[in-house]
Order: sequence, then structure tokens, then C-alpha cells
Amino acid sequence: MTTATFSRRFSDLIIIIFFIFSFNLGLAQIRNAPLTKIDADRAAQNYQKYCTLCHGADREGNAADFAPSLKSKSLISTMPLNFLASSIGFGRPNTAMAPYLSDAGGPMSMKDIFTLAIWLKQKSGVQTIALSMDPVEGNINKGAELFGHKCAECHGQKAEGVTAPALANPAYLAFATDAYIKYAIENGREDTKMQAFKNALSPEQIDNLTAYIRSLTSGWSPEPRELSPYPEPKDYVLNPEGKNPDFTLKQDRYVPMAQVEKALKDKNKLVILDTRTTSEWHNAHIPGAIPIPYYISEDKVASGLPNDDTWIIAYCSCPHAASDKIINMLRKKGYKNTAVIDEGFFNWINASYPIIGGKTK
Ligand code: HEC
Ligand code: HEC
Repeated sequence: MTTATFSRRFSDLIIIIFFIFSFNLGLAQIRNAPLTKIDADRAAQNYQKYCTLCHGADREGNAADFAPSLKSKSLISTMPLNFLASSIGFGRPNTAMAPYLSDAGGPMSMKDIFTLAIWLKQKSGVQTIALSMDPVEGNINKGAELFGHKCAECHGQKAEGVTAPALANPAYLAFATDAYIKYAIENGREDTKMQAFKNALSPEQIDNLTAYIRSLTSGWSPEPRELSPYPEPKDYVLNPEGKNPDFTLKQDRYVPMAQVEKALKDKNKLVILDTRTTSEWHNAHIPGAIPIPYYISEDKVASGLPNDDTWIIAYCSCPHAASDKIINMLRKKGYKNTAVIDEGFFNWINASYPIIGGKTK
């Protein structure tokens, strides 16, 4: 790692600390002090509401989207509280892990996020290990080659994430220290597909891999976001004068994205629901989509939605878990013409179909 990337990462940390202070949060919250019963209960409720969909009821991971385990000892003991909280607050751009911080358009306050992070640490019952902040020296080219042989099948050729987390993710590398990455490679993550490599690879090979992963750093830092107003119920139905689209569903539920894109082009009448965390809607969404996040309550889910023959289409990046949840809620309430975009939002973007971006100040 060069001095430049290190000082850039350091400036990112300063931004976070600044952020915390700007939220009037005392230092006591940042320390790993035991939670009161009230705070612990609230954190457990927030976990249930926002996280089980992908990370599983007991933090075991893989409930959807190959979301990592949030209970593995090696993760929780090495991830500093700030890193854990920022992973929740700022998410991991371009993965299903959304930003949950209200300032980024998400549903949680900074205090709730820190409380949840402390709760995750305390639930796991392991001590945090203080890892070195020193850079790990290694041969980047040799690391890249080895990565292709040993790691790419799960993490992707460019570490972009396939069935395992994206290691090239800018928000990950902005907070993960070299020692943290190296520890994960050496010790793996218990009860997951990530094996410990300390006996399979030499120390030099592990240093080369660490140096290679570090070299993918992009200099990302969280930016304040200007939030757009949400659409009003009178604007929920797109093309109210248009014809109904002609959708052919798979398994009585999934509509191919090409049919939805055609319906938009043909100015058909329909409603599109973005079921991801609201911050993702602020980031980018299908034009005209309204934010109905997967954690909305049953009594609010249908508010303002027409229950006639108007088609209501949901999407997420999962590509199904969040949308399925919302569509199940609507069907239970008697909504008939409902469906989920089969391929999900990332494939929609990759196909260069229309999206509208959010504003960053
Ligand atoms: C069989 C699939 C598989 C292979 C091969 C594999 N990994 Fe992983 N890796 C995973 C999974 C799954 C996780 C996430 C585990 C969890 O926490 O649930 C992970 C996690 C990690 C993490 C921690 C990421 C974080 O968010 O903190 C690092 C670093 C990592 N792997 C590096 C490597 C390297 C380097 C190699 C090659 C030597 C490798 N992995 C090979 C599946 C794999
Ligand atoms: C829609 C699915 C989804 C939901 C809901 C979700 N996550 Fe995630 N989360 C993911 C995925 C996928 C990743 C891995 C992203 C990557 O490739 O780096 C992840 C990564 C993380 C990480 C980083 C772990 C590591 O190994 O580096 C943390 C911490 C985390 N999530 C916490 C949470 C918490 C807490 C919540 C609830 C507030 C939550 N997530 C909700 C899908 C989700």
C-alpha cells in the first residue's frame, strides 16, 4: 500500500468521526459499552425488521443474496465497531447491501446503527481483537495471479463478488485495513464457505494476496446526499390513460424485465414498486417507481395503491427476496395483477434500460 492510499483511507475515517460528532452522538456510544435492556431490545427489533431478509433470523447469513454471516467469530472479533457501523450506515455500493443511514436516505439514525453494531458484537460474545494498522507489503502481480487460481471462483475474477463478498468494493476497502484482510484470509470465516488459508498457502502468498486486494482501492468516501421528495399517491399510476400491459408470468409471479421495459415504452398503465431500502431509491431507480421498502408494515404497504385491474410490479436487487415479500403482502390483501421483475435491478441496469439517478450534493 502506498502512503497516498493510506492517507486517503485515514481521511475517510476522519469523515466518519466528523459525521458522528455532527450527529451529536457522545463518545460513550462509540465505545463498546454494554447496552441497556431497552437499547438491546430495540437493536434486536431493528435487526429483525431490516436485516433478517438476507442475513437470516440468527445472523447466520445466506438467507438471500449470498449475504455474509454476521456471527462468524473471525468477522466480529476483527471488525472494529466503526467499520461495522459504517458497513451498515453506508452499505456496499453496487451490491444488495444498502446504506441504512437516514442521511443517505435510509431508515435508521446514526444512534440506532451504532446500537445495532454494538448489539451484533455483544450477541456474538467474542472480544474484539486489536489488529495492526501497518500496511502489509507484498507482490501485487503474484497476488493477482494467485487470486485468479484460488479465489476467483467465489469472489470473481476482478474480486467483484459472485457467491462471496465483493473484495474490490470501494466502501469495503475504504475501511478494511491490510491486517483485517490478511486475518480473514489466514483464518477464514467459521461456518461459511470461506476456509482458513493459513495452512494451505505460505505467509508470503498471503501477503501477496493482501497487497493485491489493497491495490483495488478506489479512494471512495461517503458523500452527503441531497434527498429527492417521494412521489405522491396521485402520481403512483404511470400512464393512467394507457392500455394494460400484456404480461406473461413465470411461476404465476415473475415477469421478464424486457416485458416491463416494453410496457414503459408503449406507455402502458402500471405501478412500479421499488422494494429496496429507501436509500437505494434515492441512489437510482426505474423512472416512476415508488419506494415501498421490504420493511414497511402490513397496514401501510397498500396505502395509495389502486386495487383494480392495474398491474403492480415490484423489483429489488436481490433479485426476488424483498419484492416477493411485498407482493405476498399485497396478494394477501386481495391485489391480483401483481408481479416481480424476474432478473432484478442490477440486470436492468446492465441491460441499459432507463433509470433515474439521485442527487449527490
Ligand atoms: C468456496 C468459495 C470461496 C473461496 C474459494 C474463497 N472465498 Fe473468501 N469468502 C467466501 C465467502 C462465502 C465469504 C464470506 C463469508 C461470510 O462471512 O459469510 C468470504 C470472505 C472473504 C473475506 C472477508 C471479506 C469481508 O467482508 O470481511 C476475504 C478477505 C476473503 N474471503 C478473501 C479470500 C481470498 C484471498 C481467497 C483465495 C485465497 C478466498 N477468499 C477464497 C468464499 C470463498
Ligand atoms: C437485501 C439483502 C440485505 C439486507 C436486507 C441487508 N444486507 Fe447486509 N449485506 C448483504 C450483502 C449481499 C452483503 C455483502 C456485500 C458485498 O458483496 O460486499 C452484506 C454485507 C454486510 C456487512 C459486511 C460484512 C462483511 O463480511 O464484510 C455487514 C456488517 C452487514 N451486511 C450488516 C447488515 C445489517 C446490520 C443489516 C440490517 C440493518 C443488513 N446488513 C441488511 C445483503 C443485505
